[in-house]
Parts: sequence; structure tokens; C-alpha cells
Amino acid sequence: MSLAISIAVVSFLSLGLAEDPMPMCDPPMPPPMYTQVRWGDVKPTGFRARFQCPEEASGCNVFLCSGYSKDIMRSYMNVTEESLMVDGLELRTVYNVRVECVYNGGCRSQMGLPGRTRTFGTPRTTTTTTPAPTAPTPVGKCGKGYFTCETNETECVDESFWCDKSKDCADGTDERNCPGACTEITSFHKAGNFSCSRWNSRKSACFFQCNGEFVRDGPWYTMCVHDKWTRRVPTCRLRRVSVVISNDGLIPNSIQVTFNALNDVEDYVVNSVIDVDTKIPMVTTFNYEINDGVVEGIIGDLAAGKTYEVSLAAVDADGVEGFPSRSRYGRTAPMRGTDKDFDVES
Ligand SMILES: *[C@@H]1O[C@H](CO)[C@@H](O)[C@H](O)[C@H]1NC(C)=O
Ligand SMILES: *[C@@H]1O[C@H](CO)[C@@H](O)[C@H](O)[C@H]1NC(C)=O
Ligand SMILES: *[C@@H]1O[C@H](CO)[C@@H](O)[C@H](O)[C@H]1NC(C)=O
Repeated sequence: MSLAISIAVVSFLSLGLAEDPMPMCDPPMPPPMYTQVRWGDVKPTGFRARFQCPEEASGCNVFLCSGYSKDIMRSYMNVTEESLMVDGLELRTVYNVRVECVYNGGCRSQMGLPGRTRTFGTPRTTTTTTPAPTAPTPVGKCGKGYFTCETNETECVDESFWCDKSKDCADGTDERNCPGACTEITSFHKAGNFSCSRWNSRKSACFFQCNGEFVRDGPWYTMCVHDKWTRRVPTCRLRRVSVVISNDGLIPNSIQVTFNALNDVEDYVVNSVIDVDTKIPMVTTFNYEINDGVVEGIIGDLAAGKTYEVSLAAVDADGVEGFPSRSRYGRTAPMRGTDKDFDVES
């Protein structure tokens, strides 16, 4: 919203309108005294931002930005406490927080200096979620409970109409700058159907979360700027299986593999089997059984006495292959009487 407000101010000035559009904002309000992010409160997925506005301020607008940029990822409007817990963030990521003070009548100060921090990591078994942000209706001239239209600031619409995907202000500003406009992406397995222009949102952040056995193959958020995503919209893919070669070098013409089964899987397939000597990819058969949550499979149609680099992948119900497993080296048993020709892989 700060973008929209500053645009509104600039256009009033450039039109040379005599009336001051925000009489209470003259002289300019002082910025917040500081924004501080205490290391002691930092968690794997969040932190507490502390800030201090001058006494006369009625509250603060707090903005979460990514790393070293000023692009706003989330807004917390009219915060009356002097600190705010920001949560649901990505591990090991740098964020900054910027604060502006709100005075009577919705006048806003400049943003203060960014307070910067980073979240820290946890063991890999911890699951994290990055829920779509929600922000309360920005408070303007119309006061709490109402959204203030941009062109005509005496035009007030009920706050429940803000960002409801239907135009209520004559100038449509109640449907612009909507926060977190793309929560629907979260449970999809496939990317693609998320047009930011559809939301008529010039600058909103979208956060992506994959459920269950699925993991993102791209960035965890993207912004909608000028009807385009600033970063690639990710896909949720099945996570990689951790393949172990069993009975290594004991079975002629085939390699046995085992790994823990994943949920949400339709099938397991060979991602690649490469002859280590010739680097030639092989066409193989793959048969498996699942016993007590363990997949036991046999890669067949191989040559005897050879070493292969093997990688498998899980396939979801949409037929999309997940991340391939890491490569493992497996050997087929040498043909009888040719043991001396078999070169054990070092
Ligand atoms: C901000 O919230 C406080 C407490 O809810 C309220 O008293 C105040 O009027 C609000 N500020 C504005 C500008 O509406
Ligand atoms: C502004 O909005 C108010 C309330 O809807 C309306 O009465 C007034 O005519 C509008 N002013 C202009 C210039 O459109
Ligand atoms: C994309 O969205 C359109 C319109 O909402 C819908 O008809 C279509 O089935 C969607 N496609 C996919 C792949 O989800």
C-alpha cells in the first residue's frame, strides 16, 4: 500500500492541485526511531522485530522484505505493540524489516532504517511451512473497518470487500496491491496455472508450499510486478528416494536395489542406468515389490560382470517424476570362469 499512497501523492503534486490532499501530514511526520531485531528471539522460521515510534503515533505499519531488497513481502498494518513476531519464514534466510509510523487520520511517516536478521537452520527432519501471508485491511481516511479508495478518499468500502476480486471503488483500487493473492497454488502438483495479472495485483507476493512427500523445485516465493512474476513459479515434485544397492555383484545380468517407499507415489521408475566403462545409457527392465514400506526392486537386462551407475525416481499420480535419486554404483555378477577379467570398481 505504501507504493500506492506515494503514487497518489506524487500525482496530486504533479497536477498542481491547490488543496493539500493530506492536510494532517504537513509538516512531514518523523520516521520511527529505530527498528531492531534481537538475535535472542530469532528462531528457525521467525524472529521478533522491535520498533519504536514517537509518542504521538497511533501505531506502526511493519513491512517484511527479502534479504537486502526493499520489495515488500508482507505488510502488518497499524500494529500498536512495540514488537511483532514474524513467523512462517524460510530457514537460513536473510530478511529485513522496515517500519513506518501512522498518525491520526492515517498519515504515514517515512519508513525507518531496515532492521536486518537471518533465520537459522534446523535438522533436515523438521518440516517447515510457509503459509500465504494475510494482512489486515490498510487503514486510511475511512478509518478502521473500511477501505479507503485511492482517487476519491471520501469513498469508503467495507473492509470485507477489500481484495475480494470484485471492484468496489470506482477506480478499482480496492483490488490492487492485494497481499498473498495466490494461496491456491499450494496444493497443486504442477506449476503454470497461476496468472498474476488475473488478480489485478501490481505488487503482491506469493508463497509456495508443497505438502506431504512433495518438495519445491524452485523459489519459495515470487512477486507479481507489472503483471509478471519476478521469479519462476515452482512445481511440487516428489522428493528423492534414497537408493541402496543390495546383493552387489552377486546376481548375473541384474542389480538389486532397496529403498524406503514414499507416500503419494504411483510408480517407481529407472531414471538412468549408465555403463561406467562406456558411459552408454542402458535400456533396462525394472520390477519391484513393496514389503513393509520398503521397496525391493530388480534392474534387469544388464550385461554380466559390469559396473553401472544407477538412479531411480518416484512418479506421482499426475505422472510427474520426482527428483531422481543420487547415483549409486552397482555391479552385476561376472560370468562363470571370467572372474579374473572383472575389474572391481575402486
Ligand atoms: C489503529 O488501531 C488502534 C487500536 O485498534 C486504533 O485505536 C486506532 O484508531 C487505529 N489507527 C487508525 C489510524 O485507525
Ligand atoms: C467521492 O465519493 C463520495 C462517496 O461515494 C461521493 O459522494 C462523491 O461524489 C465522490 N466524489 C467524486 C469527485 O467523485
Ligand atoms: C487452469 O485454469 C483454467 C481456468 O481456471 C482451468 O480451466 C484449467 O483447467 C486450469 N488448468 C490446469 C492445468 O489446472
